[in-house]
Amino acid sequence: PMERPLEGQRAVVTSGPTREAIDPVRYISNHSSGRQGHAIARALAEAGARVTLVSGPVQEPDPEGVTTVHIESAREMLAAVEAALPVDIAVCAAAVADWRPALAPARKIKKEEGAAAPVIELVENPDILRTLARHPRRPRLVVGFAAETGDLEALARAKLARKGCDWILANDVSPGSGIFGGESNRILLLTAEGESEAWPELDKREVARRLVRRIADHLAREAD
Ligand code: C5P
Repeated sequence: PMERPLEGQRAVVTSGPTREAIDPVRYISNHSSGRQGHAIARALAEAGARVTLVSGPVQEPDPEGVTTVHIESAREMLAAVEAALPVDIAVCAAAVADWRPALAPARKIKKEEGAAAPVIELVENPDILRTLARHPRRPRLVVGFAAETGDLEALARAKLARKGCDWILANDVSPGSGIFGGESNRILLLTAEGESEAWPELDKREVARRLVRRIADHLAREAD
């Protein structure tokens, strides 16, 4: 059916920031709103897919018709994504913290009179997109995002190869582009087959719908 082209397909979407504990009351995070990831989860569900949304802490409401799993850290996000497998489609739109504090003590770090400021050692977080793209139960289509400044196409192409995913939606986040945290995105879609497609500046919901149409066309062609 034309309106529900993803009927029978399963999808997992990551969205929002992660939160990495320093101690029980403090954390490292970022300003991701979750708007784009949530819009993609909603659009996939509207197209008939069975969607699990794995979301960090955001203001966005849980999308209707989607199974939303709330997590905080990158490691929790990875575990929730793996628990959702197998799926046909994975879209990684989360702004995962690249590093986490090496130690997260069970007790609050105390500020002692006259003591030196603590030094927080960081260790690398798992890369969820890369893990999915190389997973024994790899989804048929693995899509990531790249927010870059500078030579968008070259940087995003390198990222596509490094991550091993099928598509990258690259976004120019140069200062003055007004994209980061905004309502709209200007996407350059790159595929592992070497295609490149420049989209006009679109509302994040429109980006989501256009991506879902592209996914449905791709899977339909693949099935032929
Ligand atoms: O390497 P970079 O963070 O620029 O890559 C962005 C893409 O990788 C996004 O799709 C993001 O969701 C994903 N990513 C991830 N896990 C990480 C880091 C990035 O899934 N630890």
